[in-house]
Amino acid sequence: MASRLMALWDWFDSRMPSVAEEFRKHMAEYYAPKNFNFWYFFGAFSILLLGIQIVSGIFLTMHYKPDANLAFGSVEYIMRDVPGGWLIRYIHSTGASAFFAVVYLHMFRGLLYGSYKQPRELVWIFGVLLYLTLMAEAFLGYLLPWGQMSYWGAQVIVNLFAVIPFIGPDLALWIRGDYVVGDATLNRFFALHVIAVPLVLLGLVAAHILALHDVGSNNPDGIEIKKKKGPDGHPLDGIPFHPYYTVKDIAGAVLFMMVLCAVLFFVPEMGGYFLEYNNFVPADPLKTPAHIAPLWYFTPFYSILRAVPPLFNSQFPGVALFGLSTMILFLLPWLDRSPVKSIRYRGVLFKSAVAIFVITFLVLGYLGTEPVTVWGQFGSWLGYADVATVVARIFTLLYFAFFFLMPWYTAIDKCKPEPDRVTM
Ligand code: HEM
Repeated sequence: MASRLMALWDWFDSRMPSVAEEFRKHMAEYYAPKNFNFWYFFGAFSILLLGIQIVSGIFLTMHYKPDANLAFGSVEYIMRDVPGGWLIRYIHSTGASAFFAVVYLHMFRGLLYGSYKQPRELVWIFGVLLYLTLMAEAFLGYLLPWGQMSYWGAQVIVNLFAVIPFIGPDLALWIRGDYVVGDATLNRFFALHVIAVPLVLLGLVAAHILALHDVGSNNPDGIEIKKKKGPDGHPLDGIPFHPYYTVKDIAGAVLFMMVLCAVLFFVPEMGGYFLEYNNFVPADPLKTPAHIAPLWYFTPFYSILRAVPPLFNSQFPGVALFGLSTMILFLLPWLDRSPVKSIRYRGVLFKSAVAIFVITFLVLGYLGTEPVTVWGQFGSWLGYADVATVVARIFTLLYFAFFFLMPWYTAIDKCKPEPDRVTM
């Protein structure tokens, strides 16, 4: 049997040797730093989740109906009558939240170890593009169950485009395909969600990995392993990705899948954080829910949007800062002027800035899930204000301070000398 398989492989290899060549280049002879830690699992987990989302999505599409009159019912049909349908739907909805959790941890690793710094700026840029595309994918997908939150969430977000000066109203109409969110919107969101955006995601993942493999991976010490090579021409601190990291990533993926399954089987809706309760109510264009909030992965940015007061009756400043809060990530490689990459060798200024940033992101994230009245109101000589809005304003300032003050605090920070070789 084994010899037959080998003969089959030889037959294939002699006709298409590029497969084995690419495998060697990107796996067996790709030298990765030997000190990868826990944080280096999340890239592989992201690929795994992309696969899970595509496969579960294909099965959902077999029973889902992209029609404003039928969509909600078809999702309920999947949940109640299609054999295993509830599992496929929960895999897809929990998978979406897991995808964002994993991608946030993956991005945070980049911040910890300065992986966006030279020569990996392009790896980072493709990463940010992936993140923005993933946000678009999640937003488009959320309209499909045609529940109250699907409907009103889409209404709020598409209306944001309407406040852009000059082109706004036409742009919003063009996106919706109607004067309100309706059947035309559902049809186009479906087309974009099931095929167009996933294709972009796959292309971007390929570009992300190719860019990474051209320059080589960073590591928890933030030093370039290519600078110290042995007589065989391979980095002294590198090991072949395959089999060392393929085995390690598979072991990590098994543990990760156990956590994912625990969530999936015991708390698939995560108390309304992964699937909002209001979305089990069919969309009603005549009844606006009292509190409209996006899912948790968008809430830090939603808080920023709500925190900015209107200027001359225009909501544009809020929308502009909302956009800027994600776009600013593109600039990170050029905002950071530290001579070292890894947080291990950075000074107290950068470490404190990262700690404050994490708290800021979590507070904004929490506030975005709640109504602005969550902490009541207080009176001042300006009148009454919501406590939560004032807190969100302070944290919005801190959010942007992290980025805009970065060139200053990273330049004056007292860094430690980097080691010559990686540390284990
Ligand atoms: C679908 C989403 C994504 C997938 C599938 C993905 C996949 C990967 C993989 C497999 C790696 C190599 C393994 C590793 O270092 O963990 C990697 C590295 C990297 N990714 Fe991503 N990624 C995604 C999103 C992002 C995002 C959103 C960012 C940042 C905005 C990002 C930034 C990076 C950086 C900087 C590296 C190099 C890290 C280093 O060498 O230290 N990625 N990515």
